[in-house]
Amino acid sequence: MAESQQEPARPAPEGPRGPGWVLIGFRGSGKTTVGRALAERLGVPFVDTDEQIVRRAGRSIREIFADSGESAFRELERAMIAELNPSPAKIIAVGGGAIEDRRNVARLRKLGRIIWLDAPAAVLTARIAADPETETTRPSLTGLSPADEVATVLLRRRPLYAQACDLRVDATSDTPAVIVEVILKAFPPASA
Ligand code: S3P
Repeated sequence: MAESQQEPARPAPEGPRGPGWVLIGFRGSGKTTVGRALAERLGVPFVDTDEQIVRRAGRSIREIFADSGESAFRELERAMIAELNPSPAKIIAVGGGAIEDRRNVARLRKLGRIIWLDAPAAVLTARIAADPETETTRPSLTGLSPADEVATVLLRRRPLYAQACDLRVDATSDTPAVIVEVILKAFPPASA
């Protein structure tokens, strides 16, 4: 069985959800690509919190990590998520580590239904290596080799993604267009 199928996501605790769609998942899971496609399909705004952080800081994520450390980046990330407004309904993609802070998860639930784009470690490692964005947006989190970092950090985060999400989508091989339809079948705009 594929690694991404070993752990079916348990439903996140009941509670009010905002009207939007929030994409979570590891680096390389396709949050930005799927988020843009979903926003285009629905004609709603798309917000990528990493892009907002970079714009506000006037520095790349790699520079923020290098100059001020990961904890400074996490503070910027927390502040950015806290500022987002549920209305109007929108698509929000957050960095892969955002769910490590429970406050972020609670706030994301108020913005929308949370969708976890899941894929096996080997797939994520290959996509991260192939993505030109990696150089500026994905500084090392551990000092380990890329493959070891994905394996180690994903092991820690998988239960957090599973707990945070309302829907887990296998993003291993389907195109963004197919993933968009899977998401909309589960959470059509009218269900907001
Ligand atoms: C991070 C993922 C990155 C970015 C930062 C930290 C992480 O976002 O927020 O480099 O901790 O996994 P993506 O998941 O969009 O690559």
